[in-house]
Amino acid sequence: MLHLLYKSSYVFMLFYYAIIPLGYLTKWWVTIEKMKGNSTILVTGGAGYVGSHTVVELLNNNYTVIAVDNLVNCYSSGNEKPEALKRVEKITGETVTFYDIDIRDKEALDKVFKTHKIDAVIHFAALKSVGESVQIPLTYYQNNIGGSSTLFEVMANNGVKKLVFSSSATVYGDPQFLPITELHPTGQGCTNPYGKTKYFVEEILKDLCTSDQEWKVVLLRYFNPVGAHESGLIGEDPSGIPNNLMPYIAQVAVGRREKLQVFGADYPTVDGTGVRDYIHITDLAIGHLKALERMFSPCFKSWKAYNLGTGRGYSVLEMVKAFAKASGKPINHEIVGRRGGDIAECYADATLAKIDLDWVATRDIEAMCRDTWNWQKKNPKGFHSS
Ligand SMILES: NC(=O)c1ccc[n+]([C@@H]2O[C@H](COP(=O)([O-])OP(=O)(O)OC[C@H]3O[C@@H](n4cnc5c(N)ncnc54)[C@H](O)[C@@H]3O)[C@@H](O)[C@H]2O)c1
Repeated sequence: MLHLLYKSSYVFMLFYYAIIPLGYLTKWWVTIEKMKGNSTILVTGGAGYVGSHTVVELLNNNYTVIAVDNLVNCYSSGNEKPEALKRVEKITGETVTFYDIDIRDKEALDKVFKTHKIDAVIHFAALKSVGESVQIPLTYYQNNIGGSSTLFEVMANNGVKKLVFSSSATVYGDPQFLPITELHPTGQGCTNPYGKTKYFVEEILKDLCTSDQEWKVVLLRYFNPVGAHESGLIGEDPSGIPNNLMPYIAQVAVGRREKLQVFGADYPTVDGTGVRDYIHITDLAIGHLKALERMFSPCFKSWKAYNLGTGRGYSVLEMVKAFAKASGKPINHEIVGRRGGDIAECYADATLAKIDLDWVATRDIEAMCRDTWNWQKKNPKGFHSS
C-alpha cells in the first residue's frame, strides 16, 4: 500500500513539475508562432524614419501591415503612397496598405479598425523636434497627446488592446545615475514639451492598464537611433536643418552643409564632448518585433518599459572620426559653446530587454556610419532625389 502511495506521489510530482509547465510552454509557443505568422499590425507614423524600418522587419517576418500617416514629416510625390513605403515594398517584395490619415481624426481611424482585423498597434506617429516643441508647445501637446488618446480610444472601442509605444530616453531627463536602467525615475527632469509628451503618454498608458486588465502595453524607450537600411533605399530624411548629430554629419560629408558645430568640449567626458548611446535603426526595428512577441505571450500582463540602446556611449568627436573613416570624407567641424539643456552623458542599461525580450543590439558604430553614408550618398537630397 505504502509502495503504491510512493509511486503515485512520483506520478503527481512528474505531472506537477514537468507536464504542466511543458503544457504551458507549448501553449505560449503555439500562441506566439500563430501571432507571428498571421497577425495584422497597425503602424501609426509608418512612413517615418523608425516606422518605415520597422515595417520592413514586420513584412520580412510575415506580419500584415496597415500603415497610417498624415505625411506631416515624410515625403510623398503626390496622391500616391509615401516614397519611404514604396521603397519598403521594393526591399521586401510585399505590399503595405496605406492610409493618409491624421490619428486625431477619430472617424477616419475608426473606419480603418472596422475595415481590417487588427491584432495590435505600434504607435510611432508624433512630432519629434525638441527645439520646435519649445516654440509651439500646444501643437506638440495636441498632436502627440491628443493624437495618442484618440488612438487609444478608437482601439478600445474596437477591442484592440495591445500596443507598443515609441517612447524615448528623454523621459529620464538629466540622468541621476549611469547606465540608465528602467528603474530610473521618469518625468522629473523633462525640460521640453516634446519630452513631456512622451512622459505623459506613458502615464496615460499606465492608467489605462490599471483601469482595464485587458490592455497590454510595451513602452520602448529609445536612446539615439541612427543609420539606415543596408540597401540604402530608406533612411533618415529630416526636413530642414537636422536636429540630430548623425544626419547632420552625413549632410556635411555629402556637401549639403558647410560644417558641423560641436556644442561644448568641456564636459567631463572622454574628450570633453557630449556622449550618447547610438543604436542602429535595424536593431531598433527588430526590438519592436521582439516586443510584439513578448506582448503576445499569454503570461504578459499590463505594461512594461524597456530601454533600447547598446549600453555603450560615443562622444561627438568619436562619431565624427568614425563617420570620416566610413565615408572617406573629412567632416568639417568647429567647437562652439555648450547648448542650453544638453547633458554630458547618457547611455542605457539594456539588460532587461536582453532578459525579457531576447533582444540585443548587434550592429556596431562602423555599421551605423557605413549604412548612413550608403543611404546619404545614394540619396543626397533624401527621398526628394527620386
Ligand atoms: N528618431 C529619434 O531620434 C527618436 C528617439 C526617441 C523616440 N522617437 C520616437 O519615435 C517615433 C518615430 O520617430 P521618427 O524618428 O520615425 O520620426 P518621423 O517624424 O520620421 O516619423 C513620425 C511619423 O509620424 C507622422 N505623424 C506625425 N503626427 C501624425 C499624426 N497626427 N497623424 C498621423 N501621422 C503623424 C509623420 O508624418 C511621420 O511620418 C516618434 O514617436 C518619436 O518621438 C524617435
